[in-house]
Amino acid sequence: MSDPVVREPVVVIHGGAWAIPDKLSSASVTGVCAAARAGYEVLIRGGSAVDAVEAAVRVMEDCPAFDAGTGSVLNTKGEVEMDSVIMDGRELRCGSVACVQNIKNPVSLARAVMEKTDHTLLVGRGANEFAEEVGIQRVPTDSLVTEDAREEWRQFMQFKTTVNVLFRNSKSICRDGGHVTSAACDTRGHDTVGAVALDRFGNTAAATSTGGITAKRPGRVGDSPIVGAGAYADNESGAVSTTGHGESITKVCLARQVTHHMESGMSAQAASEAALQKMAARVKGHGGVVTVGKDGDIGMHFTTERMAWSWIKAGKLHYGLNSGENFVIDV
Ligand code: GLY
Repeated sequence: MSDPVVREPVVVIHGGAWAIPDKLSSASVTGVCAAARAGYEVLIRGGSAVDAVEAAVRVMEDCPAFDAGTGSVLNTKGEVEMDSVIMDGRELRCGSVACVQNIKNPVSLARAVMEKTDHTLLVGRGANEFAEEVGIQRVPTDSLVTEDAREEWRQFMQFKTTVNVLFRNSKSICRDGGHVTSAACDTRGHDTVGAVALDRFGNTAAATSTGGITAKRPGRVGDSPIVGAGAYADNESGAVSTTGHGESITKVCLARQVTHHMESGMSAQAASEAALQKMAARVKGHGGVVTVGKDGDIGMHFTTERMAWSWIKAGKLHYGLNSGENFVIDV
């Protein structure tokens, strides 16, 4: 006898906030739609929410348009250091990795931390040693680095921009006569990826993966692998994945803020908007979130110029990039 269907499966995806440049817009939209399809495929076959978010994030880690896995941005030394988290809303189990190098799919390493260790977060060398232990192979750094990432790094090193400039919201802050030219600002293009899901058994999960921010200090860890900041999942409220300025997101524990609002009775959409509003008000931070409530309502909001997003529910794929967009097709 098959398991009873208690919930309509839902998967919601983001491919990163910020001013995604036109040259990346089509690949970003295609990428988030492919990720949603991969996650939904898992769900309609009866797979778990955790399986779905891992599958979806792996698709985006393998797509060079996104700042995660292949396509990750570079730190000041020109190295790739990646962060990822995954969380299972059933019993609040979670696993994260930070500052890992030479890993194709950090989200799968985060899942191994969740399932095969007594810990919630492994960093740097220890995380890489654990990857070898569980049979996750090293890949050459060059296989993760795109020409776009190299060019962005060159620009940021030349203009000595800081992470604060990187994540301000408006192109109008770019000063031709100052530290940054508009050309440099135009390269700010892609950010973290993430997925949330509700499976047919009513279980929620969230996952987030990132290469961080261009020209970050070696060893810098942003919000993404921090449970409650980069992602949160709790079957009693819902699941959230975030993107945007990591230091701001960490300060307000953005993902947990969203679930907290849902616990107080807000819809997923209202909770997502309220949490981002608070981040802007308290720390002048910008970003985006995708959310699924425990009953399958969907939230998606961003306070940056663009965010690639998609979701699938009841056989309909929704997607967009610019504010106000909501394209819909059958899957
Ligand atoms: N949100 C990605 C980062 O700041 O690292």
